[in-house]
Amino acid sequence: LPPQIFGEQRKNSAGVNIDIASQWQPFSESVQAFARHQWQAGPIINGAAVIDSGNTVAVTAPYDRRESVGSVTFASAEQVNEALSIAAQSYQQWSSRPAAERAQCLLRLADLLEDHTGELVALCHREAGKTIQDSIDEIREAVDFCRFYANQATEEFSQPKPVMGFDGTTRQLSYQGRGVFACISPWNFPLAIFLGQVSAALVAGNTVVAKPAEQTSLIAFRAIELMLEAGVPAGAIQLLPGTGAEVGAPLTADNRIAGVAFTGSTETAQRINRSLAARDCEPVPFIAETGGQNAMIVDSTALPEQVVRDVVRSAFASAGQRCSALRVLFIQQDIADRVIGLIKGAMAELSVGRPELHSTDVGPVIDATARDKLQTHIQSLKNQATLVAQASVPVSCQHGDFVPPSAFEIPSIDILKNEHFGPILHIVRFKASELDQVIDHINQTGFGLTMGVHSRNERTYSHIERRARVGNCYINRDQVGAVVGVQPFGGQGLSGTGPKAGGPHYLYRFTQDRVEA
Ligand code: SER
Repeated sequence: LPPQIFGEQRKNSAGVNIDIASQWQPFSESVQAFARHQWQAGPIINGAAVIDSGNTVAVTAPYDRRESVGSVTFASAEQVNEALSIAAQSYQQWSSRPAAERAQCLLRLADLLEDHTGELVALCHREAGKTIQDSIDEIREAVDFCRFYANQATEEFSQPKPVMGFDGTTRQLSYQGRGVFACISPWNFPLAIFLGQVSAALVAGNTVVAKPAEQTSLIAFRAIELMLEAGVPAGAIQLLPGTGAEVGAPLTADNRIAGVAFTGSTETAQRINRSLAARDCEPVPFIAETGGQNAMIVDSTALPEQVVRDVVRSAFASAGQRCSALRVLFIQQDIADRVIGLIKGAMAELSVGRPELHSTDVGPVIDATARDKLQTHIQSLKNQATLVAQASVPVSCQHGDFVPPSAFEIPSIDILKNEHFGPILHIVRFKASELDQVIDHINQTGFGLTMGVHSRNERTYSHIERRARVGNCYINRDQVGAVVGVQPFGGQGLSGTGPKAGGPHYLYRFTQDRVEA
């Protein structure tokens, strides 16, 4: 692979180190400047923002619903149609631009994102409820995606690749965009996954109609404004804020769509798959990154203190709202009491609170619907499981959508029928002789996103790694926070189609390859 992708020349964004006072001070001031700012968003069609017409909804902060953040106008059916027409008309022009030129736009966007870190961090915590550290990481990841795909496209799509025949003749293999890509993205990585999908589709030569999660439309809107400022032509990118029913469904049912990149729940991915299959036109690529029932297996050789640090981060960072997050911890009986005791102690120290505070470990969940679903799950666990520990939510959080980080011992993974997307950890004990059964049980869930393993026995962790059907297996570390280009990310089975985001094969799925003989 070219050095730009995996070699020393490729660098990930440095972000801001908030533990260094000289970095924290100016950074904090730049975020504070947006502490009361009100943003407005709406569809962006052919470069023009359509704000405050028709279906406009108020945006409030997840940590305090009394705080206004701005408003967003959702797209109408006519605007969905218009966006698709413009994207289809603009395809030829954009796709015929040299890959390096398309990539330049993304490289400029990456710089602009870094220049606007203060505003984007403020948006991430005020609209999405992300902690300061998560917000910084979010922007770093978005920057990394732009640079990674820009470099890869320049390297691999600029020139056709010679394909040698046995008879000494040569053919040319080239890559081009497919047409209009629909990019449908989630609220949990409102900038990184949103821009990851859109930048990959664009740099590969497609035009894009993007539908961000309705909970995080303001962030998406600012990202597209910066993208236009970076030089992406107005026809190449259309933004359609709105709900799945009103915007997502008509998009994926439309014959003009030449591919879909989607990140979200498995159920929605299945719905999109059916919608694409029902169209009366050619089959198109569908890239889906979905949920998980992610497990960690801890054997008796593991270091308990290290296990606890990694469990707490994997289960509760980002309020458990990562598709990679740890949901089910399997601990070998021999060290279970010790590890569970340490988990209790660590959870008592977790600070739940407003996300903009440096001291906060766990912020709110995204909205009241998510909060209520998680609370219902916690209530149902009280009847069939043993509460191990529950962090407290301070009274000052009463106007926000908070869920207390909770850990339960459950009799078996079988009682979990769905993914519970929040700060809830389930713990199962197992005997050494049951290791293979445990792995098989995890595989039988049908999901296959991340897995953590803690063991100092190489035979054990290699065995688990080989037998487990997961996309990302992490040994003796936490299992969240995949880094672009370093840990290509994506799952198997019910967890997604691949190819992995931030990996060497992702861009190719957005292209058509052609041979000139
Ligand atoms: N890529 C994220 C992580 O690794 C999950 O979406 O945590």
